[in-house]
Amino acid sequence: MTLSTDTLQAARAAKTPQNSPWRLGYHIQPQQGWMNDPNGLCYHQGRYHVFYQHHPDSSKWGPMHWGHVSSSNLIHWEHHPIALYPGEEGTCFSGSAVSLGDELALIYTGHRWLKEDHNDDFMKQVQCLATSKDAIHFEKQGVVIDSPYRADIVHFRDPKVWQQDDTWHMVVGVKEGEQGKVAYYQSDDLKSWRFINTISESSGIEEEGYMWECPDLFSLAGKDILLCSPQGMAPQGYLHRNLFQNGYFVGQFDTQSGHFERGGFTQLDHGHDFYACQTFAAPDGRQIAIGWMDMWESEMPEQDYGRAGALTLPRELTLIDDHIYQAPVKELEQLRQSTHLDLQNIAIDSGYHPLSNVNGMIQSSQYEIELTLDLRQTTPQTNKSKAAAPERSGLWLRCGQTRSGKFDEYTYVGYDMMSDRVFIDRNHNGEGVNGIRYSPKLDLADEILTLRIFVDNSSVEVFIDNGKYTMTSRIYPQADSQGICLVSESGLTHVQSCQIHQLQSSIENF
Ligand code: FRU
Repeated sequence: MTLSTDTLQAARAAKTPQNSPWRLGYHIQPQQGWMNDPNGLCYHQGRYHVFYQHHPDSSKWGPMHWGHVSSSNLIHWEHHPIALYPGEEGTCFSGSAVSLGDELALIYTGHRWLKEDHNDDFMKQVQCLATSKDAIHFEKQGVVIDSPYRADIVHFRDPKVWQQDDTWHMVVGVKEGEQGKVAYYQSDDLKSWRFINTISESSGIEEEGYMWECPDLFSLAGKDILLCSPQGMAPQGYLHRNLFQNGYFVGQFDTQSGHFERGGFTQLDHGHDFYACQTFAAPDGRQIAIGWMDMWESEMPEQDYGRAGALTLPRELTLIDDHIYQAPVKELEQLRQSTHLDLQNIAIDSGYHPLSNVNGMIQSSQYEIELTLDLRQTTPQTNKSKAAAPERSGLWLRCGQTRSGKFDEYTYVGYDMMSDRVFIDRNHNGEGVNGIRYSPKLDLADEILTLRIFVDNSSVEVFIDNGKYTMTSRIYPQADSQGICLVSESGLTHVQSCQIHQLQSSIENF
């Protein structure tokens, strides 16, 4: 059979997940279709498992399934068949997994709308159990919590289960009236659950939200942490600027009374795209977090290619002075293939400076940058009478050049001296998305700023000051926008060091 020129052209023009310029090389994505929350993070029989909210039939959210990947080392992930399909209990909303030794158990929310117009005031959300002997094929065991602790509660989802003192413990997100709450249950067998208490509740919609999605409860450094995703919080200056938030409360949890004595809400990530983060305990004791690397209702240009959604890199959490630090798991260093550039102690003049090495201008879309800026030294600008430290300095990533030789496409990750914050500016990133986000004020004791930045084909993750703050955003540049520039605005920037490592692909996302 010979194909007509038209057919060949159509085939070439067809947009598929395989030919998407935004296909990620070392982040988890579905092979096709839609992904949102990470679910069921766990370590079971020598492998790490990650499940996720998945709609395989379209790149838009729809009837939820659980997609599934696993890995022996947290970097090379293998795709598996869909673990959970919608059934009698409804579609399969978020939840968690626990290893029972020879079996893997999933605890998830069965979701049904009771009216055809999908009115959120009329839903039935129940908690369900499924188990597997081979960690690939799951058998549904039915509904284990059929109704919430109060008959008028409709939003009742995202169970996170853990084992402690021979008992199973579960936290579930709830909307009670206009208040976000976390309900707490106990069980001896994962099947029959006792309601103990609501462990905590929001202090008001604007302050802490009307619904707490995806709760997670774990300990770090002797303190208990309640992580959750509040809906409805109002923006507050530089904080809480996404549609929904993701953050944590530090406190002390009493399993007897089910009461959580806590402090205020702290946002976990300060970029545009971070939500529904879940954690699990690795066998070596590390508490590892993975978030959804997107945001509800945000533009997703990758949808045109039949796929949407990705997960963040796995991050190790530590608690220092009641603040969570996030570090990319150490395994990620194995992704480093070669070093494009290794600069030490240079001063960058006002302007933007494309980075080159012996092979010419550095071109890459999958890399890690380690950048250390010495903010102590400031030099007067030569053509001005007043002394000026650089107002902003940092990097243009994924730069694309026009014919005039100017860059009209780039994502700017930098330090803003005037506000003492790191920012990610994606107003010129490429397609679809825009906006700028800032970290909290840095107040660096030694004025040495370290940034570790992971760039993949459509994402940027920034780890600031050894993970004290992180910023995660999706970007959608042209495939050939691959330049990298050091930038200094209105003054000299002192770069103590700058290393760029090429990162290999570790996931076949198709
Ligand atoms: C959070 C969330 C969860 C729910 C799931 C549905 O992003 O809304 O509360 O279980 O997504 O896909």
